[in-house]
Amino acid sequence: MSQLIVEGLRKKYKSRTVVQDISLQLNSGEVVGLLGPNGAGKTTLLQVLACALPPCQGRLLLNDTAPWALSAAALRQLRGSLFLAPQVPPLPPRQRVVTSVLAGRLPAMGLLHSLRSLFYPADIPAAYDALDRFDLAEKLFERVDRLSGGERQRVGLARTLLAPAKLWLIDEPLSALDPARARQALETLLDAARDRQATVVATLHQVDMALAHFPRIIGLRDGALVFDLPAQAVSREVPAQLYDQYEHELRGEVPANAEVNYPDRPEPAPAVMHCR
Ligand SMILES: Nc1ncnc2c1ncn2[C@@H]1O[C@H](COP(=O)(O)OP(=O)(O)OP(=O)(O)O)[C@@H](O)[C@H]1O
Ligand SMILES: [Mg+2]
Repeated sequence: MSQLIVEGLRKKYKSRTVVQDISLQLNSGEVVGLLGPNGAGKTTLLQVLACALPPCQGRLLLNDTAPWALSAAALRQLRGSLFLAPQVPPLPPRQRVVTSVLAGRLPAMGLLHSLRSLFYPADIPAAYDALDRFDLAEKLFERVDRLSGGERQRVGLARTLLAPAKLWLIDEPLSALDPARARQALETLLDAARDRQATVVATLHQVDMALAHFPRIIGLRDGALVFDLPAQAVSREVPAQLYDQYEHELRGEVPANAEVNYPDRPEPAPAVMHCR
């Protein structure tokens, strides 16, 4: 099970607030698409949810545990139970694809085991199966720097399937994929998540894909939660305005569809945590 509770979450870089007053709850097995324009704070929010960055204020609970109250060892263990897939997977250029895919298991492994697995890939059939699901099985022993950008991104996604995590935080999984590959990759990922009852938060810019594949959609703008709705309740104009307003602001105009009302944002919870 992987339940996530966030209350009044705020994150600053220096004095600039980039995530503000976010409150939400994700139950085990929930699958959420996170939309928002460039710079809205999506990646930052994922990093805070992944316990990679401490929040400056607010409460984060993973399975009823407050990560930043844990000892360093317990925090490491908790991080091993979730998987953060960055938009550009950090794949060492000369590494073989098989090793890169199996690295999905590293966060859940001890140090010695991890080091050994980098030199002696242990579960080649599992890596092959994961790659096969993204149509990349023939690249198993290819060097990562000989792949195209879209192939590299799919290697990063195959890596997610190897992770034993129950919480997947996936940053822009489709940004380098052509439309057909994007649909196939998203279906593969979400099928795998459903099989394992993993909780998923994925950021993406493909609004139609998000509405078609994610049961719940969250919109973020200027670091704040603007809407949090079941996909079937999201009319086309809601996400459109999320992006549109920026174009109007740049032109110094009032948005034509300014009457679109977003649902009320939740009241921020009392702050219980402060920046370290
Ligand atoms: N390490 C950092 N130090 C300072 N500011 C940062 C840092 N990382 C991100 N920011 C700023 O925080 C804001 C939110 O960035 P973030 O990467 O979370 O946006 P995003 O919604 O993921 O955007 P995109 O769609 O372009 O990926 C941006 O204005 C960015 O410049
Ligand atoms: Mg981002």
